[in-house]
Amino acid sequence: MSINIAIDGPAGAGKSTIAKLVAKRLDYIYVDTGAMYRAMGLYFVRQGISSDDEASINEACEHADISIVYQGGEQQVLLNGENVTEHLRTEKAGNMASAVSGYGKVREKLVELQKKLAASENVVMDGRDIGTVVLPNADLKIYLTASVETRAKRRFLELTDKGIPCNIKEIEKDIEERDYRDMHRENSPLKQAEDAVFLDSSFMGIEEVADAIINRLKERT
Ligand code: C5P
Repeated sequence: MSINIAIDGPAGAGKSTIAKLVAKRLDYIYVDTGAMYRAMGLYFVRQGISSDDEASINEACEHADISIVYQGGEQQVLLNGENVTEHLRTEKAGNMASAVSGYGKVREKLVELQKKLAASENVVMDGRDIGTVVLPNADLKIYLTASVETRAKRRFLELTDKGIPCNIKEIEKDIEERDYRDMHRENSPLKQAEDAVFLDSSFMGIEEVADAIINRLKERT
C-alpha cells in the first residue's frame, strides 16, 4: 500500500515549497495539483474560451488530455502530449485556473488522475481539496496557512526579486479575492478536513514546517 500525505491550504501559504521538501526528504513523489488546474486553464486560454462559458469549458474538457511525468525528480505537466510546465505560472493561466476550478467537469477529470497517481506511489500531494475529496483516507493531512499579510509579503519579495514591478496592496487584494473564490465555491471548496493537522507558517521557517510534518507522519505510520 502506498503512503499518502495531503497538504491543503490557500495560495501563497508555502504549500509547494514545503511539499517538495518533505517529498525529497522522504523520497516520495511530489504532486502539484495546482499545476494540473493551470494546464487546463492554459488550454482554455489558448482555445479563446471565456471562463464564464461553462458549456464550452465542459465540451473542451473532452479534448484536453493532461498527464504527468517526472524529469530529474521534477513534475512536468503534459497537455495533449506537449510539455507546458514552463507556461503554467503566468497570470493568465493562474486566473483562468482559479475561475474554472469550480466547474464539476474540470474537477472530475483532474481528481481521477490524482487518485490514480496516489494509489500507485508514495506521494505528497498539495492543493485545495486533497484531504477532503481526493485522498479522504490519506495517512496524514495537513492544513497549511499563513496570514494574508505574510503571504502578500512573500509574493511581493518573489516578484521584486525577479525584477517584476508590483504593489503590495494589490497583491493582498488579489490573495483575498482568490481565497474567497476557493473557499466559497459550491464544488469542493477549500476547507480544513476534520482530521487535518492545522499549521500556520506565518512565523515558522521552511525546515521547521517540514520537520513538523515528518514528525507527525512518524507518529502515525
Ligand atoms: O495552487 P495554484 O495557485 O497553482 O492553483 C491554481 C488554481 O487552481 C487555484 O487558484 C485553485 O482555484 C485551483 N486549484 C483547485 N484545487 C486544487 C488545486 C488548485 O481548485 N486541488
